[in-house]
Amino acid sequence: YQIPFPENEPIFDYAPGSMEREKLQEAFKKLMDQDPIDVPMYIGDKEVRTENKLPLSPPFDHKKIIGHYNRGTAEHAKQAIDAALKAKDKWAALSWEQRASIFLKAADLIAGPYRYEMNATTMIAQSKNAYQSEIDAVCELIDFLRFNVYFMEEIYSNQPGSSSGVWNRMEYRPLEGFVFCITPFNFTAIAGNLPASAALMGNVCVWKCADSQIYSANLIMKIFKEAGLPDGVINLITVNGPDAGEVVFKHRDFAGLHFTGSTAIFKGLWKEIGQNIDIYRSYPRIVGETGGKDFIVAHKSANPDEVAVAIARGAFEFQGQKCSAASRAYIPTNIWDTVKKKLVADVNSFKMGAPSDFSNFVNAVIDKRAFDKIAGYIDFIKEQDDAEIIAGGNYDDSKGYFIEPTVVVTTNPKFRTMCEEIFGPVITIYVYNENDFEKTLKLVDESSEYALTGSIISRDRYAIDLATKTLVNAAGNFYINDKPTGAVVGQQPFGGARGSGTNDKAGSYLNLLRWVSPRTIKETF
Ligand code: ALA
Repeated sequence: YQIPFPENEPIFDYAPGSMEREKLQEAFKKLMDQDPIDVPMYIGDKEVRTENKLPLSPPFDHKKIIGHYNRGTAEHAKQAIDAALKAKDKWAALSWEQRASIFLKAADLIAGPYRYEMNATTMIAQSKNAYQSEIDAVCELIDFLRFNVYFMEEIYSNQPGSSSGVWNRMEYRPLEGFVFCITPFNFTAIAGNLPASAALMGNVCVWKCADSQIYSANLIMKIFKEAGLPDGVINLITVNGPDAGEVVFKHRDFAGLHFTGSTAIFKGLWKEIGQNIDIYRSYPRIVGETGGKDFIVAHKSANPDEVAVAIARGAFEFQGQKCSAASRAYIPTNIWDTVKKKLVADVNSFKMGAPSDFSNFVNAVIDKRAFDKIAGYIDFIKEQDDAEIIAGGNYDDSKGYFIEPTVVVTTNPKFRTMCEEIFGPVITIYVYNENDFEKTLKLVDESSEYALTGSIISRDRYAIDLATKTLVNAAGNFYINDKPTGAVVGQQPFGGARGSGTNDKAGSYLNLLRWVSPRTIKETF
């Protein structure tokens, strides 16, 4: 039988006065008012706590303690691997329908009884506004879980031809060993999907989430367990990267890395895996989604209002902390004045503050380290002669890590912030001569090491065609007349190449394909 193509989970808009908004506010308040929680690691059938407790605070109110998490050691990483390998045979032998049921039930639990708690948890832990949290922690996570089942069946049903007297078949075995998942703070959906997608295909996982993600990851684990995930299939640890790596990457049964995070860390891990290659039973699968320097290019035919909206939304949703966020834009001279006026007005109208007030479009950035790095870039920009801040540019971490959405204009197309990833609410714009479109496209292609997302905004079909062709390798997700963020599972498979990752397209069968090791069987009658 065939699994029907799922519907994307409908997005609640939390309109003022709606019942949904009231419920979400209640959930938010409950979590903020409750006594601090002690977030464990999940290893096999145990919730593991240690003496080394570290505080958890909302980025928008960093003096408030909402809980503690437990720093584990290399020994905990080892225990997690042992627990995974112990669970492996039984899990892999389970029929795929049974595995699918667990993740489909988890999706239903998030869509139903846990919807508001899931959303509020991400609003608090990662400082997302209600809408950004809804499209991530609720809808995208549900979509991943439901669509993965569809993609799995798509893979399993792909069978070779046979002939009279011969029956050929493909058996899509899980990898022989365990998969190590490393997940980032910025998307709860990605955090849940990295282990869930590998586990659905019959693998067992050790999952190391970002420390700033653990508050949400804890709820995901609880939901997976409530949905019936057997002990040991996914083991969540909060161990320092080097401590975990020392054990994981030296283990014979290390079979795959499912990673989302920074380019530098991913490259470091790849080298470490390479150095240990003789240890492993199989060549490990290495799947990573890393950095971006995502662009918007407007053509002289573009509607300036659309350009301004694409920049404002694409650059500043979730404080620019999406790997897909627009962080450089190329605008032609003929529309610049109009774009500038609307963009500056839009950005100045964004309210900034804690997500408890739903009218705050901009919230805090994730932590002190991010704040210092982004503020450092803003200070640098202020000192340069060839760049000017036309909106924002202030920051304040007295209560939370708040940085104003900042628009920079430069006369230098290779200005530092036109090329380097900042991962914060800063976009740099280069205004080009409207007759230099072709030259500008080449500049876009050459100016960064990344190739994740990008947009062309134009009403001229020839210009769209030229941009699509010239920028063929500049983005794994290319948007025509839209902002470059907000890929939807099952609709825009997501991922980029060059310095942005292995381009194994989250939200499509292409990603799940990496978590199987097919066996070809020929039977002769
Ligand atoms: N998938 C996320 C987006 O497209 C990162 O914005």
